[in-house]
Amino acid sequence: MTFRAKHLLGIEPLHPTEITTLLDLADSYAEHNRRGVAHRDVLAGLTQINMFFENSTRTQASFELAGKRLGADVMNMGMQASSIKKGETLIDTALTLNAMRPDLLVVRHPHSGAVDLLAQKVNCAVLNAGDGKHEHPTQALLDALTIRRAKGRLHRLSIAICGDIAHSRVARSNIMLLGKMENRIRLIAPPTLMPSGVADFGVEVFENMEEGLKDVDVVMMLRLQKERMDGGFIPSEREYFHRYGLDAAKLAHAKSDAIVMHPGPMNRGVEIDGTIADDINRSVIQEQVEMGVAVRMAAMDLLAQNMRAERKAVIV
Ligand code: NCD
Repeated sequence: MTFRAKHLLGIEPLHPTEITTLLDLADSYAEHNRRGVAHRDVLAGLTQINMFFENSTRTQASFELAGKRLGADVMNMGMQASSIKKGETLIDTALTLNAMRPDLLVVRHPHSGAVDLLAQKVNCAVLNAGDGKHEHPTQALLDALTIRRAKGRLHRLSIAICGDIAHSRVARSNIMLLGKMENRIRLIAPPTLMPSGVADFGVEVFENMEEGLKDVDVVMMLRLQKERMDGGFIPSEREYFHRYGLDAAKLAHAKSDAIVMHPGPMNRGVEIDGTIADDINRSVIQEQVEMGVAVRMAAMDLLAQNMRAERKAVIV
């Protein structure tokens, strides 16, 4: 098996060999990007529409850049100015866009499950760029590629995911991906930010950063998702930083060569100390951004290959 999916809606349905296929291709795109080699033939003649119903900086920019590097015609829908504001439903907007015959639809939406629903209504490949608290598959894949390149492998690593896990689609997708690849996962968070049903995840759970970080290979910090909170989750940002913010003293409990990750955007001085985030010997935050373009190139390349094969089969 290589990569058979029609859409990229989440990590959950992917087989480990599909993950490896995608990461291998992304790895080669990362090298080509560094050397400035373009591949404008890969998505030539295809139309990619980016629909972001939630704010985004790096995800939207990297999907746009990835499409352009591979030669697609890329259109960004300004959802703030769209007919959604006039009361049109998500499905009506999707059907309208579908009638324009796009080939790739990249969607971010504040509601969990909205992107899956949309994928059932259109006949192009759909990529989930983050749906509510549910999944953010390309983020988990770019995190995996960053880890694999830094550590030389993606199995049997001890990985701590820390902070606002309850509201995080990044955490959910990462837990699934890193679990499928047979790593040891530790979740570290105050009880108010730990999701319910955590016992079913096959992870170790800690309330204390010093204990949870002991001897880990990877420290993955998460942003406090204030926009998904309705008050009362943390006493104060100052207290939160004191107990859960990653600083040099807490990081000293991890392995001496442990890497530090953050999906961005960062709240410096809340979940992470700015000095740690900028320490090029420990932090791989900029590599994560770089791998984001490569992973999105690989994902769209593989989905386009499957789509072309399917269309050919229909014509024959
Ligand atoms: C994440 C997201 O939007 O889920 N950011 C991202 O895609 N780079 C995490 C976050 O917003 O905290």
